[in-house]
Amino acid sequence: MIKKIKWGVIGCGGIADRRTLPGMMLADNAELLAVMDTNREAAERCKEKYSTEYAFDKVEDLLALDEIQAVYIASPVFCHLQQVKAAARAGKHILLEKPLGLDVREAEEIADFCHKAGVKLSVGLMMRFHCYHQKLRELIEQGALGEIVSARGQFTCWFPEMKSNWRQEKHLSGGGALMDLSIHSIDLLRYITGLEVVEVAGIVGNQIFKYNIEDAGSVMMRFSNGAIGYVDSNFNVPDVASKSKLEIYGTKGCAVLHNTLSQVEGGQIEIIYADDSVGYDAMQNREDAKSISVEAEFGNMYTKEIEAFSESVIHDSKVAISAEDAIRSQKIVEAAYASSAQRKFIKI
Ligand SMILES: NC(=O)c1ccc[n+]([C@@H]2O[C@H](COP(=O)([O-])OP(=O)(O)OC[C@H]3O[C@@H](n4cnc5c(N)ncnc54)[C@H](O)[C@@H]3O)[C@@H](O)[C@H]2O)c1
Repeated sequence: MIKKIKWGVIGCGGIADRRTLPGMMLADNAELLAVMDTNREAAERCKEKYSTEYAFDKVEDLLALDEIQAVYIASPVFCHLQQVKAAARAGKHILLEKPLGLDVREAEEIADFCHKAGVKLSVGLMMRFHCYHQKLRELIEQGALGEIVSARGQFTCWFPEMKSNWRQEKHLSGGGALMDLSIHSIDLLRYITGLEVVEVAGIVGNQIFKYNIEDAGSVMMRFSNGAIGYVDSNFNVPDVASKSKLEIYGTKGCAVLHNTLSQVEGGQIEIIYADDSVGYDAMQNREDAKSISVEAEFGNMYTKEIEAFSESVIHDSKVAISAEDAIRSQKIVEAAYASSAQRKFIKI
């Protein structure tokens, strides 16, 4: 019989109820025992919807349940630090939503605290589980695109001003379009290419919406091998007009992904390469392009995220996405903010 990890959930709002809990229901090795939200109604609604045994409005009540082995924390970012500490003290393993903390200092405190408490910590960068992202990482590792020279990512949505929305307050969310959305694209470019970012130039600002987080941000990045990357996110483009796109170019070819930067595992991938015999061509002929088709089956990225974390608890093995890895992506966003404010390049 498959062993199942007993889970508790802290924060039953948008992402938990919309994606992660439905994903958890499909996981072979997970069982949802209790849900908690400071909004009692939200907790009760999830208890009903996912047939959990318990619903709480206090974190301590959920953490007091000895049976719970792992918690998924999907509360607003300003709650993460205190809730991680409470969960780690209670000996629970933790899957924490991105970004880990309000800033890199908090994120490092979170990672350090879990390390010292001896509990596992992983981060909700679930797009790493998209089959196309994993397959492309493999192909790039095998040299299918040659040396990577350029990488881009766009992830955008419509996020108008709303009264009392924690995401629109920098001291509660840590940042705007870059921190909320681009953190995924930055993380994916690092994951897929296997390259690290060494230097950053950022521009952030508010053009349409006047909340105190940026409604648009761009980051230029220099990777460890000299490749140049560009990532942008907007909160001021309608959802239907958002062209979620990842593009990776190398000395032998390119990969272009449409709509894979998403909460749903889907989209398209196009991989083109030129064979090694192609030399300089003053006509810049594009007719010799060959393509690689990718055989992969779509699943549910949230199910895979929960299954991977449960697996690491069952076998006491390494988590798929470490806090240290996620902190590197958060450092890039933070450096982009500093770069924009100081109008200079920032080394990572
Ligand atoms: N990985 C992803 O796909 C993804 C997508 C969206 C959001 N997120 C992340 O998930 C987290 C939550 O975002 P959201 O969009 O679900 O927010 P949300 O505002 O929709 O939901 C947050 C929920 O937390 C509850 N809450 C508030 N304070 C709390 C506390 N102290 N303890 C417990 N619950 C509390 C609220 O009542 C609400 O139900 C953030 O870190 C966000 O960045 C991740």
